[in-house]
Amino acid sequence: MSDVRGHRVLPTVEDTEAFGRELAAQLHAGDLVVLDGPLGAGKTALTRGIAAGLGVQGRVSSPTFIIARQHRAGSDPGSVGLVHVDAYRLGGDLDELDALDLDTDLDDAVVVVEWGLGVVEHLADRHLRVLLHREPESDIRTAEWEWVSAN
Ligand SMILES: Nc1ncnc2c1ncn2[C@@H]1O[C@H](COP(=O)(O)OP(=O)(O)OP(=O)(O)O)[C@@H](O)[C@H]1O
Ligand SMILES: [Mg+2]
Repeated sequence: MSDVRGHRVLPTVEDTEAFGRELAAQLHAGDLVVLDGPLGAGKTALTRGIAAGLGVQGRVSSPTFIIARQHRAGSDPGSVGLVHVDAYRLGGDLDELDALDLDTDLDDAVVVVEWGLGVVEHLADRHLRVLLHREPESDIRTAEWEWVSAN
């Protein structure tokens, strides 16, 4: 997956996770991933796939009270950690976002932010934007991804 953008149909949650593992293959320490899509679109499932692809420790879940969760790098040489943020409850509060110190995390980890669209892009020169869609009637889920420069 060496293109700068793509589109994917994701019939099952396993497809979403497999897509996350594929995306992980193009991620390095310092990369920011911004996930957007409606409630239940599959953002956490995609993050689970990214975590599996990176080989990080700990189970990815949808935290109720925690806004950011650190996953340590796996034991393989060169593996990187993951910080999984759910910005839903931040509601665009930039002070709370600042307090998370994500720019420090970005020194040596991949940072994935659910509900990050329009909130966290300034943290990096570029980011991987993934938009998850869910057709209400057919329940068909799709993803569009693109590397986006900050300016
Ligand atoms: N491609 C898919 N096909 C079918 N079901 C899926 C797919 N992706 C995710 N799901 C299911 O949809 C539900 C919601 O997924 P998930 O928690 O990943 O969504 P989310 O976008 O993180 O939700 P939230 O907005 O609450 O954070 C889960 O039960 C998950 O298994
Ligand atoms: Mg979620």
